[in-house]
Amino acid sequence: KKRVLVLTGGGDCPGLNAVIRAIVKRAAQEYNWEVLGSYQAFNGILREPMEIIPLDEKKVSGIHVKGGTIIGTTNKGGPFAWPVKDKNGKWITVDRSDELIRRLQYQNIEAVINIGGDGSQRISLALYEKGLNIIGVPKTIDNDLRGTDFTFGFQTAVEISTDAVDKLVTTAESHNRVFILEVMGRDAGWIALHAAVAGGAEICLIPEIPYDVNKVVEKLRSRIVGGRGFAIIVIAEGAKPIGGDVVSEQSDEIGYLNKKLGGAGLRLKEELKQAGFDEDIRVTILGHLQRGGTPVAYDRILASQFGVKAFEMVLNEEYGKMVSYKHPDICSIPLEEAVSAYNHVQPDDQLLHTARGLGISFGD
Ligand code: F6P
Repeated sequence: KKRVLVLTGGGDCPGLNAVIRAIVKRAAQEYNWEVLGSYQAFNGILREPMEIIPLDEKKVSGIHVKGGTIIGTTNKGGPFAWPVKDKNGKWITVDRSDELIRRLQYQNIEAVINIGGDGSQRISLALYEKGLNIIGVPKTIDNDLRGTDFTFGFQTAVEISTDAVDKLVTTAESHNRVFILEVMGRDAGWIALHAAVAGGAEICLIPEIPYDVNKVVEKLRSRIVGGRGFAIIVIAEGAKPIGGDVVSEQSDEIGYLNKKLGGAGLRLKEELKQAGFDEDIRVTILGHLQRGGTPVAYDRILASQFGVKAFEMVLNEEYGKMVSYKHPDICSIPLEEAVSAYNHVQPDDQLLHTARGLGISFGD
């Protein structure tokens, strides 16, 4: 039998299990293929003893409903940066990519399906350039990959964030308070923008539009003077004030200053106070709740489409490519293209236009 190895890398994301299940179910229709899973991305192959498990229909039964990933994931290690201690006991990293390829050959692995975000797909590309038969499946709740219209996990994060706005509204209006809800998204404002529109927030602050705190105060005052005693601000974790630390195309860490000040939400609360806005303000940081629990139906469907497509790409030997959704097609694009640019909220974005039309302020 031919063997295909599946792995999940980077942060977990609702829908990963649905992709794994779809790959296994599609492969089960080909009598000469079997599917294996490597624990915690490539680390399962590189460990001694190896941590790889057979994935059959029984093993994946019902997992599309579960968040997380049954084969584990990690941001650490990997073939190009394996941690080892040098002779002075200091941690350094070594390149084990050639050894990884040899180990895969030894296991008779015909092809690898790497489900992961931009970091994982950079690894896919580098391994493809070394001769490995590899296919990428995009994953991120941030929806910041340009090579695909949507990634699974994003709608679940939006749903959870919208639910948080809904819940904050009921307490905010009872107390006449201002609530700041901080959501994830790394350097992109997609989750914040979608949740602000769906939840009906008054203010939405995103990394792509640096905000002027005085404009935020103006909006809050006009709302309070206007007789609505409460307000909801949705802020993306990467949002920054005008003149704040530079927004990168894609950072490994969210802005240094945001982190130092306890996150974008707490930073904004402080800035509002300093700008003379002394109403009752509360901050909620949604954090990893956005990635947990059950994927919404949309994400299960997209993830299933990606999984079936990924295995069919293996059958067609379409290596060096990543599965992509370009409405209405589930297609594939070269890995090189997939990792070359990020998808940020652009000034002419349709939803941004809608949000402004609804009177949502971006603090600009
Ligand atoms: O990329 C997904 C994401 O959840 C981002 O929205 C967030 O900035 C980051 O991962 C958090 O990473 P970690 O789980 O390592 O704290």
